[in-house]
Amino acid sequence: METLGRVLVVVPTYNERDNLAAIVERVRAAVPDAHVLVADDNSPDGTGEVADGLAAGDDHVHVLHRPGKQGLGAAYIAGFRWGLDAGYDVLVEMDADGSHQPEELPKLLEALADGADLAIGSRYVPGGKVVNWPQRRELLSKGANVYTRVMLGLPVRDATAGFRAYRAATLEKVGLSGVESQGYCFQVDLTLRTARHGLRVVEVPITFVERTVGKSKMSGKVMSEALWRIGLWGVTGLPKRLRGPDRH
Ligand code: GDD
Ligand code: MN
Repeated sequence: METLGRVLVVVPTYNERDNLAAIVERVRAAVPDAHVLVADDNSPDGTGEVADGLAAGDDHVHVLHRPGKQGLGAAYIAGFRWGLDAGYDVLVEMDADGSHQPEELPKLLEALADGADLAIGSRYVPGGKVVNWPQRRELLSKGANVYTRVMLGLPVRDATAGFRAYRAATLEKVGLSGVESQGYCFQVDLTLRTARHGLRVVEVPITFVERTVGKSKMSGKVMSEALWRIGLWGVTGLPKRLRGPDRH
């Protein structure tokens, strides 16, 4: 097992005022050496000020203020760029609403230390779970994963998962400049790019717990973007899939 170096946990927020302090505290307790970057889209509920207050009292907490709601993908790209520029070795994605358990973060980091280039916290591998999701939402998520597998042929059970750890080198190889996904399909986008670069993607079972405070930002716009973009990637990648794996 290798040592991983400096870890940055990027937490995107939009109207998570009443969730943020608890989640940051749990990350700090679970992985005390890790730093946290809150990427806030100028939340009208004052999440940005809560984040500033946390950063003022803890040199491991940082805030990236963005001008307005531009989507989960755009917030992560900005957060990753910030982290790469600051020289972090590992960049983690985690929701602010408590759905991802910071106590499971060491498992993701271990998978990287064991050689993964991307470790995905997966709900749909043996041992993975979803707690308290309405059936409608679970069907949507499973349907999205089936659609993704059929369209892209990705050998990943939970390609839309939002709890994951990237080596900085993975993001540098894959490159962020061409990523156009704004919403949640950003997750699929980066999974596909990582796999297409021949990098090692490992799924680690996690328990996803539906939020009890605040509201999901999933919307019709997020869903339709995922539908058309994944379809487009499927069609444009098809000739290569039909040719089969490259021979050397
Ligand atoms: N900065 C910013 N900008 N943050 C955002 C935005 C945005 O436009 N939209 C959502 N977020 C933040 C939320 O504040 C939260 O911290 C996190 O992103 C996840 O948003 P939720 O709205 O709680 O997502 P969800 O629970 O419906 O969806 C979860 O499952 C999806 C499907 O599996 C997440 O884990 C997604 O990442 C995942 O793709
Ligand atoms: Mn959520």
